[in-house]
Amino acid sequence: MNKFCFVIHPLSFEDIARYEPGAKGKGEPILRKIMEWMPSYAAVHVTGVRTPDGRETEGWFVAAPLLPQQLMDFPREEVYARVLRAIEIGVELGAQVAGLGAFTGVVGDAGVTINARSPIPVTTGNSLTIASGVESLFRGAAEMDVDLATSTATVIGATGSIGSACAALIAPKVNELILVARNETRLRKLHERMAPGLPCRSEYTTDLDAAVRRAQVILTATSSTQDVIEPEHLQTGAVVCELSLPHDVSRRVAEHRPDVLVVEGGNMRVPGTPRFERVREPGSDFDLNLPPGTALACMSETMVLALEGRLEPYTLGRGIALEKVVEITEMAHRCGFELADMRAFDAAITPEKLAATRDAAHHRRCDSARAVVASGHVALTNSQVNRSGDTPARQPRQL
Ligand SMILES: NC(=O)c1ccc[n+]([C@@H]2O[C@H](COP(=O)([O-])OP(=O)(O)OC[C@H]3O[C@@H](n4cnc5c(N)ncnc54)[C@H](OP(=O)(O)O)[C@@H]3O)[C@@H](O)[C@H]2O)c1
Repeated sequence: MNKFCFVIHPLSFEDIARYEPGAKGKGEPILRKIMEWMPSYAAVHVTGVRTPDGRETEGWFVAAPLLPQQLMDFPREEVYARVLRAIEIGVELGAQVAGLGAFTGVVGDAGVTINARSPIPVTTGNSLTIASGVESLFRGAAEMDVDLATSTATVIGATGSIGSACAALIAPKVNELILVARNETRLRKLHERMAPGLPCRSEYTTDLDAAVRRAQVILTATSSTQDVIEPEHLQTGAVVCELSLPHDVSRRVAEHRPDVLVVEGGNMRVPGTPRFERVREPGSDFDLNLPPGTALACMSETMVLALEGRLEPYTLGRGIALEKVVEITEMAHRCGFELADMRAFDAAITPEKLAATRDAAHHRRCDSARAVVASGHVALTNSQVNRSGDTPARQPRQL
C-alpha cells in the first residue's frame, strides 16, 4: 500500500479552534504569536480510503500551523522550511507522496521549489481542484437553469494556477469569458496567449465588481485573504463557484441574496469508509469542517496518486496542462472519487434550498420586469429582461 501526506494549515481563527480545541477563548494576537513559533506536527491520521476494486491508501495530514496572511507575509525561506519540515514528518510516518494544502501551494512558485527540496514527490493538488471546480460550476448552472451557451462567465484569479486552467475549460461552453485579476500586465499577457485559441468572445479587466455584474456564471480562485464578491454586484439568479480557501464570497451574500447560488467547488466524496482521526487523541475525529466521507479536491488528488502508484510531482507551478486535468479526472473516477453534494457557507444545499433559490430568482426577475413596465417606458419582452441584467429562465440542459 502506498502512503501519502498532505500539508494543512488553519484558514481562520475558527479553524485554529477546530485544530486545537484548547485554543478556544484565547485572543487573536496571542494565537498569532503562538503560531509564529509553533512547529509543524502530524495532526490527522487518514485511514479507510478504498477503491471499488479494493486498493487502499493511508496517510497523514501534517499541520504547518500558520494563517494565510502569515504564509504570505513571512520570509519565503522560512515558509518553505516549515512546509518541508511538515513533509519530513510525513516521510517519517511512511509517506511516499505529498500534497500541499491551500496557501502552502500558493506561496512562491506554487510548489516547484518545495518539490525540488523535498525527499518525496510533491503535488499542489490543483489539477483535480480545477476539474472539480469546473464540474461544480456547470452543475450549479444546470440547477439554476442558466443557458451556458448564451451566458457570460467571469473567472476571478484568472492568472493563477487554478484560474487560468478553469478559464480555458469554461470557454468552450459559454458565449463570453471575462478574465479578472489585479495585475493588468499579467492579465494582458495571459489574454494575448489564450484569446486566439478561445471559441468564445473574451476580454480581461481589473475591475472586479463590473465583471461580476456582467456575469451569469462566476468561478473564483484567488489568493486574497479578504472577501472579493459582495452581494450588491451579483446578477439575479447568478451561479458562483468558490474554489478559494479562505473563501472569496462574502457571507453577506448568503444573507442578502437568496436568489444567487453559491457552491464550494473543490469538495469530493472519498471512496471506502474514510476516517480522519486526531493523531494526538486517537479515537477522536478531526473536524475538517466538511461532511463525513468528503475531502478537498487537492487532498483527493494526493490520495489518488498514492492509490494509482503515481508517486510523482504531478501538479506544480502556474500554467497547468489541461491534459493533466483530464488524466487526473479519469484516475479519480477509476478510484471511486466523485464530486461531493452541493454545499456553501458551511451548510448543505438541499433540494429544498435549491428550489427556494430558483424561486427567489424568478420572483426577483418578475419584480424587476414589473418595475420596467411601471416606469411606462418600454413594453416587456424576454430579451429586454435579459438586457436589463437578468438571465432568462430555461429548461435544465444535459452538460
Ligand atoms: N478547494 C480546493 O481544494 C483548493 C485546492 C487548492 C487551492 N485552493 C485555493 O485556490 C485559490 C487559488 O490558488 P492558486 O494556486 O490558483 O493561486 P495563485 O496561482 O497564486 O493565483 C491566485 C490568483 O488570484 C489573483 N488575486 C489575488 N488576490 C486577488 C484579489 N484581491 N482580487 C482579484 N484577484 C486576486 C492573482 O492575481 P493578482 O495577484 O494579479 O491579483 C492570481 O490570478 C487559493 O485560495 C487556494 O487556497 C483550493
